[in-house]
Amino acid sequence: MTIHQMQEEILRLKQEQDVCILAHSYQAREILEIADFTGDSFQLSLKAASAPQSRMLLCGVRFMAETVKILSPKKQVLLANGAAGCPMAEQMDKALIRQVKERYPDYTVVAYINTTAELKTLCDVCVTSSSAVDICRKLPDKRILFIPDCNLGDYVAKQVPDKEFKLLSGGCPIHARVNAADVQRARREHPGAAVLVHPECIPEVLEQADFIGSTSAIMQHAAQSAESSFIIGTEVSIVEHLSYQCPDKRFYPLSKNLICPNMKLTSLPDVYQALQGGGEEIHLDKETLCKARACIDRMLELG
Ligand code: 13P
Ligand code: SF4
Repeated sequence: MTIHQMQEEILRLKQEQDVCILAHSYQAREILEIADFTGDSFQLSLKAASAPQSRMLLCGVRFMAETVKILSPKKQVLLANGAAGCPMAEQMDKALIRQVKERYPDYTVVAYINTTAELKTLCDVCVTSSSAVDICRKLPDKRILFIPDCNLGDYVAKQVPDKEFKLLSGGCPIHARVNAADVQRARREHPGAAVLVHPECIPEVLEQADFIGSTSAIMQHAAQSAESSFIIGTEVSIVEHLSYQCPDKRFYPLSKNLICPNMKLTSLPDVYQALQGGGEEIHLDKETLCKARACIDRMLELG
C-alpha cells in the first residue's frame, strides 16, 4: 500500500467510525495531512473539548491523549502509539510535589500542560507554552510555584515581574540541549536569518533570540514576517512544515539535535492500525479525571 492509499483508507475509516484525529505539529507531514485538527498543545486541547465525534485519536505523546480524555471523559480516546511518552511530563511524581507544596503552602501551583494527569490532580491551574504568560498575569495570586519546566518558568517569571515565582529543576531534554554557542554558529552560517525559539530552551538561548513563542506562535510569526530566512529553535519537524508552507522563505534548524524521539514514534501505519483495533485506549479513574479537569478548566476560563 502506498502512503497515499493508506491516507485514503484512514480518511474512509475515520469517517465510518466517527473518529476525530488530533495531531500535534511535531508529527510527520503525512499524519498532519489526514488529521481533523493540528496545532500546539493548547489548540489541540481546545479542539478536543469542542469536537463532536464520539472517538478521538491522538497523534503525539501520552500527556496530550490524557488531556483529551480529561476534557472528553465519555468519549473513547486512543493514543496512536502507546509507547510515545514525554520525558518532561514524567519527570516529577506526586510525592515530590506534595513535599514541595508543604514547603511552600501559600504558593499557587501552576502546571505546564506537559505533565501527567496524575500530577495535574495536585495543581491549581494548567498552562501551555502559548498561554503561560497570560494566565500567570491574570491569576489573582501573587506567589506561583511553576512546574515542571524551569526554562519556561524562568521566561514567564521575567514577563510577569510583579509576581514571585518558585521553580524546580525540570524541563524538556530536547529543547534544553541547545545552547548559546549553537545560536552563534547558526547566525554565522545563515547571516541575516531571524532566530525564533521555543521558551522551553535555556535562558542563554532565549536572550539571543529575535522571537520567543510556542510552536504555533513560531509558525505564525515566520509566515507573517516580512523577513525571508529563519533559524528555528524548536523540534526540527517545524523546519520541514514551514518550508512546505512558505516555499519562498528559507528555514534552518537551530541545531540538528532538536529531534524529539517520542514525537517521532508515531507513524502513519500506527494511525491506520489504531483505526483497526490498535493504538492504546486511555483510561483514567474518576478522581483523577475530576481533579485534573479542575485545573484544565481554570486554564480555559482564564485563557
Ligand atoms: P507547544 O506545542 O505547546 O509549543 O509545546 C511544545 C512541546 O514541546 C510539545 O511537546
Ligand atoms: Fe516532551 Fe520535549 Fe518531546 Fe515536547 S519536545 S514531547 S516537551 S520531550
